[in-house]
Amino acid sequence: MAYFEVNNISKSFGKTEVLKNIDFSMEKGQVVSIIGSSGSGKTTLLRCINFLCEPDQGQFHLEGELLYEAGEKLSDRLLRDKRMNFGMVFQQFNLFPQYNVKENLCLAPGLLAKEKPDWRTRKKEILQEIAERADRILEQVGLSEKAAAYPCELSGGQQQRVAIARALMLSPKILCFDEPTSALDPELTGEVLRVLKELAQKKITMIIVTHEMNFAREISDKVVFMADGVIAEEGDPERLFTDPQSPRLKAFLAKE
Ligand SMILES: Nc1ncnc2c1ncn2[C@@H]1O[C@H](COP(=O)(O)OP(=O)(O)OP(=O)(O)O)[C@@H](O)[C@H]1O
Ligand SMILES: [Mg+2]
Repeated sequence: MAYFEVNNISKSFGKTEVLKNIDFSMEKGQVVSIIGSSGSGKTTLLRCINFLCEPDQGQFHLEGELLYEAGEKLSDRLLRDKRMNFGMVFQQFNLFPQYNVKENLCLAPGLLAKEKPDWRTRKKEILQEIAERADRILEQVGLSEKAAAYPCELSGGQQQRVAIARALMLSPKILCFDEPTSALDPELTGEVLRVLKELAQKKITMIIVTHEMNFAREISDKVVFMADGVIAEEGDPERLFTDPQSPRLKAFLAKE
């Protein structure tokens, strides 16, 4: 069984079937890019994977075990625990404007630490460990000098790198990105893509929805092409981009 499997996921909004029997799988350390035209269901799929949207049908398997089956009723706590397997970086960064960069990184790990049995006795050390981890991750995304800055004082590219750093703080098993560069000016896109390439080199498992075809081709182990709520084609990036089989992918690539 693969590291992560999406099995037969379907989702409708009212009468609109947005995802129809979506199936794909990936191995640990792989990068899967999801491409496809506007409205094809890419964001909805990522939202289902991150437990932000409830599929009507289907299952997710992670590390060989059933993680979720549609219809299953989960307590808030269980839902949160399952969601913690995934990290999500949105198009619009979604940083907390009232907190500085380092506080944005430390907030969620700090709240989680309070639930640990050793919190009362080791509070100071735990907070120190979280702060040190934030410093390391900020260095990794090239933002050490911005630790005390507020989101409004940063460029879009820097804000997105903070959002990536914040997601990394919780060590998700799979990091998901929804068009991480599409809100950025072209000159800021490169710095974010560079960070994603470094994460791929470090074998962080990632699912990336992107319109950057050259990037998808270069970084991905597998590309999934969605059209009207189905996977119309998937496979090796070189093959998919140089020798598309389905008429829809051919038409999509011709427009890009
Ligand atoms: N909460 C919702 N309620 C109703 N319809 C929705 C909802 N979310 C998405 N949809 C519809 O589902 C379809 C797929 O939307 P989705 O956002 O997943 O597409 P996408 O592939 O991410 O598109 P884009 O490239 O523009 O981001 C669209 O027709 C959209 O209008
Ligand atoms: Mg979208």
